[in-house]
Amino acid sequence: MTTASPKTFRIKSFGCQMNVYDGERMAELLDASGMTSAPDGEDADLVVLNTCHIREKAAEKAYSEVGRLRREDGSKPLVALAGCVAQAEGAEAKRRSPMIDMVVGPQAYHRLAEMLAEAARGARPVDTDMPAISKFDALPPRRRASPSSFLSVQEGCDKFCTYCVVPYTRGAEISRPWKDIVAEARALVDCGAREIVLLGQNVNAWSEGGRGLSDLIRALANTDGLERIRYTTSHPADMTDELIAAHGEVGKLMPYLHLPVQSGSNRILKAMNRSHTAETYLAILEKVRAARPDVALSGDFIVGFPGETEEDFTATLNLVDEVRYASAYSFKYSARPGTPAATMEEQIASEIMDDRLQRLQARINAHQAAFNRASVGQETEVLIERKGKYRGQMIGRSPWLQSVHVETEAAPGDIVPVTLTAAGPNSMTGALRTAEAA
Ligand code: SAH
Ligand code: SF4
Ligand code: F3S
Repeated sequence: MTTASPKTFRIKSFGCQMNVYDGERMAELLDASGMTSAPDGEDADLVVLNTCHIREKAAEKAYSEVGRLRREDGSKPLVALAGCVAQAEGAEAKRRSPMIDMVVGPQAYHRLAEMLAEAARGARPVDTDMPAISKFDALPPRRRASPSSFLSVQEGCDKFCTYCVVPYTRGAEISRPWKDIVAEARALVDCGAREIVLLGQNVNAWSEGGRGLSDLIRALANTDGLERIRYTTSHPADMTDELIAAHGEVGKLMPYLHLPVQSGSNRILKAMNRSHTAETYLAILEKVRAARPDVALSGDFIVGFPGETEEDFTATLNLVDEVRYASAYSFKYSARPGTPAATMEEQIASEIMDDRLQRLQARINAHQAAFNRASVGQETEVLIERKGKYRGQMIGRSPWLQSVHVETEAAPGDIVPVTLTAAGPNSMTGALRTAEAA
């Protein structure tokens, strides 16, 4: 049997930054309903699995995790399946696993407390509605923040790339109201945030009455106490000249842009229903570099999309060389049920995808290492986020999102002047610039 009325909870988030953000909001909601987060290493009465459906592996992780929740004495916590697998599978999830007590989609989690009460009465509630009223209005105000905090401003996707589940799991594109975003930013800064990362599946599609993301960023830059602004993830189609100009004009907007391209082959881009070509994508990046010459560029790639030839893949490698990314994410294509690409002919063999992924990652890593080496000697500022492995060592981020290890007495949330002194494959070492030459 499950616990009748849970007192402690644990939330595990498996997905993208928006999924992590949702996890934080669910935690605040459960706090507000009188529950407390279970201490590390201790059993929780309620476990919320906040899942991701983007690739097959991500979705499977959720179910293998469900299985592991049974305790040695045969008892189990109350289990809530949340996130994008919950949205995609709905009531089917309950049939797949009797361990699951409730299923709550990403647009319905403001009802979590009510659903818990239903579950405690023995029902197995499912809510995967996408109501017209925003869940955000029904959530408690922000009460916790990290030095770098997430803030969802836009949700959903209308782009329908042929490989992707997001338009189905997250619904149509919606923009949160300007005034709610400004208020949430203020609340996060009051709780200790120094940096805010604006989130959306297509964050640069944010709009309200003729105003776009660049206007929002300019307004947020006036928030006292907020020192840094970032945004992710952007779509090339919504990369307006105004937003590009903001990179050159708004000091608090960090010199970093994550702009996924997916492939360097125009034939594949077309089959993916991406609205850009390699050339139009590169032209956007050129403009961004003109506005902000030191910008660190990042992207996403899929290898092995149906029909991808060696020639197509070479075009991807060439694009990577041309852009010289500071970092990039790359994935093996995963056929997702219900998406057009899943039934395309010429699905690529897994071994070929493995080989291409390795070659692509080697290329990306080489550019990342070069970018980091070129940063050595830079005098910059690091936002301290957490303690490092060694005594006196702290870890933070440079403006270019590099992870920087510094010996300092500074605390999380402090922004310290640093000279970058050495580059590792995934992080930088920095030395505190104290008594600056007078
Ligand atoms: N809205 C964002 C990305 C959301 S998904 C954008 O358009 O950039 C994050 C990344 O997952 C995508 O950029 C893509 O590279 C990858 N991805 C999405 N669907 C995938 C699939 N079916 N197989 C492999 N990778 C996928
Ligand atoms: Fe998926 Fe494409 Fe939408 Fe990104 S833009 S979420 S890849 S459909
Ligand atoms: Fe995954 Fe849903 Fe994010 S599918 S990537 S958690 S929007």
